[in-house]
Amino acid sequence: MMLSVESIDTFYGRSQAIHGVSFEVGENQVLALLGRNGAGKSTTLRSIMAVNPISRGRIRYKGRDIAAMAPNAIAALGITLVPETRDPFYLLTVRENIMLGHRQGSPYSLERLMDLFPLLRPLLAKKGGELSGGQQQMMVIARALAMGPQLILLDEPSQGLAPIMVKAVSQVLGELKKDGLSIVLVEQNLQMALKLADHIVMLEDGSVADEFPVEVGRADPKRLEKYLAVH
Ligand SMILES: Nc1ncnc2c1ncn2[C@@H]1O[C@H](COP(=O)(O)OP(=O)(O)OP(=O)(O)O)[C@@H](O)[C@H]1O
Ligand SMILES: [Mg+2]
Repeated sequence: MMLSVESIDTFYGRSQAIHGVSFEVGENQVLALLGRNGAGKSTTLRSIMAVNPISRGRIRYKGRDIAAMAPNAIAALGITLVPETRDPFYLLTVRENIMLGHRQGSPYSLERLMDLFPLLRPLLAKKGGELSGGQQQMMVIARALAMGPQLILLDEPSQGLAPIMVKAVSQVLGELKKDGLSIVLVEQNLQMALKLADHIVMLEDGSVADEFPVEVGRADPKRLEKYLAVH
């Protein structure tokens, strides 16, 4: 297994956001983590990176217990989070934004990244803050790849993007899967999740409410919508 999340609990102060969540991500697998607003998707990703440390349970990466490690040490092992907030550096150029975290040995050189994100090529000298939301999303995914991760955690990459940019992001994620990466994808865009994922995990109120292979979700949309639709 690339990643095993085993019965984790995560708190904000005294308020428990994650209750005994477990799931596994295999090598070269895409796991879609779905659920309504406030279900605990982002907290789960931040728990894996130890940005929101867990209070119970275990998180293993390639068999190694990483729960007690610091976020930068976890990143150095090969896990990268692209947060909901994207966190671009507004005053740095696009080139600087991308290459800031570049690690020796990353298969994603600037040239390779420009092949993956051709829309960014003419923007390399612009400031991060001058880009559109979609361009910024591309830039922060490129930045994450420059670090050379084997497991990438993506928090709602399509959020707020124009349909053409959603398609472009979706295509890039398809390429990353072909490259052999493992992905945890948090998405509200169900079509995108169904297209890319191998396995679906449904969160509700900080717990796993259901999980199944993507084929089950494709054949039975009701099972997907149960934990997504607004009642
Ligand atoms: N910094 C915080 N301090 C306190 N509580 C928080 C904090 N961040 C999130 N929470 C709470 O933890 C729970 C899970 O939130 P989380 O952001 O993980 O959900 P989410 O599934 O990512 O939602 P969304 O779809 O809106 O991004 C919610 O009840 C939320 O209010
Ligand atoms: Mg979130």
